[in-house]
Amino acid sequence: MKKELRLQTLAMLDQIGAEEFNRYAALIHEHVLQLSEWKQAKTIALTMSRGKEIPTMPLIEKAWEEGKTVCIPTCFPKTKEMVFYEYTPETKMTSSYFGLLEPDPLESKAVHKEAIDLIIVPGVCFDQHGYRIGYGGGYYDRYLADYHGTTLALCLSVQQVDDLTAEPHDIPVSIMVSEKGAFYQK
Ligand SMILES: Nc1ncnc2c1ncn2[C@@H]1O[C@H](COP(=O)(O)OP(=O)(O)OP(=O)(O)O)[C@@H](O)[C@H]1O
Ligand SMILES: [Mg+2]
Repeated sequence: MKKELRLQTLAMLDQIGAEEFNRYAALIHEHVLQLSEWKQAKTIALTMSRGKEIPTMPLIEKAWEEGKTVCIPTCFPKTKEMVFYEYTPETKMTSSYFGLLEPDPLESKAVHKEAIDLIIVPGVCFDQHGYRIGYGGGYYDRYLADYHGTTLALCLSVQQVDDLTAEPHDIPVSIMVSEKGAFYQK
């Protein structure tokens, strides 16, 4: 069920033309930059987007411009844990987990969970309660289990479904931003 929905949604995303995708992505960026949660956050965590994910580089650059600290995760497949590292224009990235670009743990400064004000959580599809289907690693569910800051997801309307059958370990996000605007879960 989860797997099917993940594949179906990814297939639908593939159908969206570049022009439409870019237009929606720009709208999503605008909505995010207007949120008080964004404005107030001193430290934000997000991933390097790829494929049909809403691009995060424009948000990273904006965060730098606004004097925020940006963090990017590195996944540790053995323990299934994730650590966020400070990301600056000088940060050396390595291609590791799933070919994702990640900060080199040996050369980067780790950031404590308590210091992160806002996490932009990646995912494939989302329901009206903020529950999500991620890429299947459970990394975010583990990380968010004892996270107390704000969580935000970027998604196109086609990635939204009414109800996902959430499992006990699944952690919902508190804000979803689509091309149509921001929706608060709590
Ligand atoms: N807090 C947790 N403790 C132990 N195992 C967990 C925890 N959270 C998730 N898992 C395990 O991780 C695996 C993947 O979880 P799930 O299918 O929810 O992935 P996902 O939500 O798509 O991934 P992600 O959170 O990385 O976006 C599952 O087998 C699940 O049991
Ligand atoms: Mg999950």
